[in-house]
Amino acid sequence: MKLIHVVGARPNFAKIAPIMRAVYEYKTIEQVLVHTGQHYDENMSKCFFEELGIPEPDVNLGVGSGLHGEQTGEIMKRFEQFLMNDHGDIILVVGDVNSTIACGLVACKLHIPLAHVEAGLRSFDRRMPEEINRLLTDAISDYLFTPAEEANENLINEGIPEEKIYLVGDVMIDTLIWEMERLEDLDKPLFKDLNNKEYAVLTLHRPSNVDDPRVFKGIMKALNTIAEDIKIIFPAHPRTKKRMKEFQIYTDNDNFRITDPLSYRDFLRLYRNSRFVLTDSGSIQQETTYLNIPCLTIRGNTERPFTISKGTNILVGVDPEKIVRESKKILAGEEKKSVGFTLWDGKAAERIVKILYEGF
Ligand code: UD1
Repeated sequence: MKLIHVVGARPNFAKIAPIMRAVYEYKTIEQVLVHTGQHYDENMSKCFFEELGIPEPDVNLGVGSGLHGEQTGEIMKRFEQFLMNDHGDIILVVGDVNSTIACGLVACKLHIPLAHVEAGLRSFDRRMPEEINRLLTDAISDYLFTPAEEANENLINEGIPEEKIYLVGDVMIDTLIWEMERLEDLDKPLFKDLNNKEYAVLTLHRPSNVDDPRVFKGIMKALNTIAEDIKIIFPAHPRTKKRMKEFQIYTDNDNFRITDPLSYRDFLRLYRNSRFVLTDSGSIQQETTYLNIPCLTIRGNTERPFTISKGTNILVGVDPEKIVRESKKILAGEEKKSVGFTLWDGKAAERIVKILYEGF
């Protein structure tokens, strides 16, 4: 059996690592790793491969950035060409980035079975590019590996046959558990002048938050207010940095520190030891719930509602007053606690590979 894995963008890397590791346990499964090149900066891609122990990709399609149509189309073109020479038995895609749907579509049109890891998550907000990627990838997948009960319900409601859906848990949490077991200086502050629990961590890169200057400036106003009470460390995505320059958004508050994007382990050390996290990312909502760290999500919706009902997550939207109010509550000691999830046991990837192997 030959499994072709696809990765493209930063959040994919931590998801593929445990799957590839689980495949090594099967002598008769051959695996090939394709990197579309959607993310290409050293600190958006290469450093994750090194830290997470992912092998060098067998091929890098070198697609790079572009408008959605341009990027998705280019990935499809190059991936199709690649498959002409190396036609695997199953194509495995993860998450919800443009590389996921692009390669999924190519696999489907070439009649190669498609496996989607992290299937069934829905924000019900079709203006998010990721929501479209999720919906379409799930509609054409043969194996849908879901991280939570709610995801199964979403897929059933969309008419996906039940026998294609497998509730396996979360591969992102597999990686978190694996890395925490191996990271020696987990409790050591990432920056010398930071004390654990005396700072907040911020990530912000969603187009809806950073591409509209009015929204972006409103969020920054709230963050500057919060920074009067607590330090904020902000590893900024390249898209966000570009927009800050373009909209002339800057801060001279010493408590507000902007850094380059961090590697997986550095970022884990940073947020694990923080007082709370402000984010518009998907995975961080889950990771903070797993670690019982308060999380304020700067979005109006989430594809991971279980982090709200059972975890530490609160949706604060983009209203500056609400962002400040909820931050102050956390600083005053008013915070949510996570109840824990049975399938977050570090074994989701093992379950996925077993199902693929036995079904082949
Ligand atoms: C992509 C994903 C998003 C994910 C995010 C994580 C899609 C639709 N979106 O968004 O779901 O949360 O990755 O990081 O796939 N850039 C660089 N260097 C890089 C990569 C990007 O400078 O290595 C800059 C470029 O200016 C580019 C912009 O970031 O135009 C956006 O990159 P792109 O891959 O289109 O989407 P992301 O915003 O990174």
